[in-house]
Amino acid sequence: MISSLLSAAAGHSVDHVPVWFMRQAGRSLPEYRRIRGSGSILDIVHSADLAAEITLQPVRRYGVDAAILYSDIMVPLAAVGFGIEITQGKGPYVKEPFRSESDLARLRKLEPETDMPFVIETVKLVVKELRGSETPLIGFAGGPFTVASYLIEGGSSKDYIKTKTLIRTDPLLFDRLMDRLAVMAVDFLTAQVNAGAAAVQIFDSWAGVLSAAEYERFVLPPVRFIMDNIARLGAPRIYFSLSASHLLGHIATTGCDVMSVDWRMPLSAVKNQLKDTPLSVQGNLDPTYCFAPWEVLRKEVLQILAEGGGIGHIFNLGHGVLPGTDPKVLHRIVELVQSVAPENLVKQV
Ligand code: CP3
Repeated sequence: MISSLLSAAAGHSVDHVPVWFMRQAGRSLPEYRRIRGSGSILDIVHSADLAAEITLQPVRRYGVDAAILYSDIMVPLAAVGFGIEITQGKGPYVKEPFRSESDLARLRKLEPETDMPFVIETVKLVVKELRGSETPLIGFAGGPFTVASYLIEGGSSKDYIKTKTLIRTDPLLFDRLMDRLAVMAVDFLTAQVNAGAAAVQIFDSWAGVLSAAEYERFVLPPVRFIMDNIARLGAPRIYFSLSASHLLGHIATTGCDVMSVDWRMPLSAVKNQLKDTPLSVQGNLDPTYCFAPWEVLRKEVLQILAEGGGIGHIFNLGHGVLPGTDPKVLHRIVELVQSVAPENLVKQV
């Protein structure tokens, strides 16, 4: 039988709305903290056995309808030697940020087989474990804007001044950087799908900080390039960005199969805007709802399911699981979503 996640991504009917959580691996699970040790995630992913185990932990505990590879959007950058560090509790840190044309030379082509055999091995181990369970593995890559922002800012940012200033000072250099990162994403995603990942998600979390015009000019072409160049792999392509309601029209033309949206716009409005497209939607519970009283949270989950309409909807959070989230709450959400019959959600038109 085909998995509920793959069916929903294709807009086909499902026996329950599929549910998984962005950042389900390695955020709030005590079994993760027990085995992760004190090293950086960039070291942990070198151990395929450990990374596969961490990938599978949330599947076992929550019964989610998809696994997501335990890795990070900065892993390919580290693998080509750009000089990336990730310390626990903080975001990525870039020792020598991207400043000028000469830095392009530090972004050589990714050769997944030799640069990251451990990622390929992890995917194979996970897929072998999941065989027969109908639970697909989602592979992923960072969106080119989001990765570029880390390379240029040198780490996390609040206002993206350096990134936006580069766009406005040397737009052609920014284009060249984005092109390199788009090719890197294609190579990273292709390696994961060839090793057995059944769907992919592009995490372009921070693209929403741009205006619609800047998105169209600088982000849409490289994102389209990624979508076009992985289309032949046949794995559904999910595109995720935060605070992007002003970008929905553009994102709909990237070639993605599923648009993952946050909670700022009701799902019914998103679905309405996409009604002339074959796109499915993913989302969109505000992750802070996981801290609300259960009756309040339950009502919100049911509201989102109703707005999703039961078809072409993958239930998820609008952003990643927050540290401190009680795993029992995530488990209850999964049980609730999977207990609702989709035919009761389909709107009578
Ligand atoms: O979804 C999953 O559970 C799978 C693994 C995954 C990680 N990062 C593991 C991780 C995924 C899909 C990501 C994506 C990612 N990484 C994004 C896009 C999603 C989003 O949240 O917007 C971004 C922006 C990053 C960059 C990044 N990596 C940050 C900001 C941080 C630090 C904050 C944090 O999450 O703790 C990381 C480190 C990181 N990536 C950790 C994990 C499990 C923490 C590692 C640790 O335990 O030390």
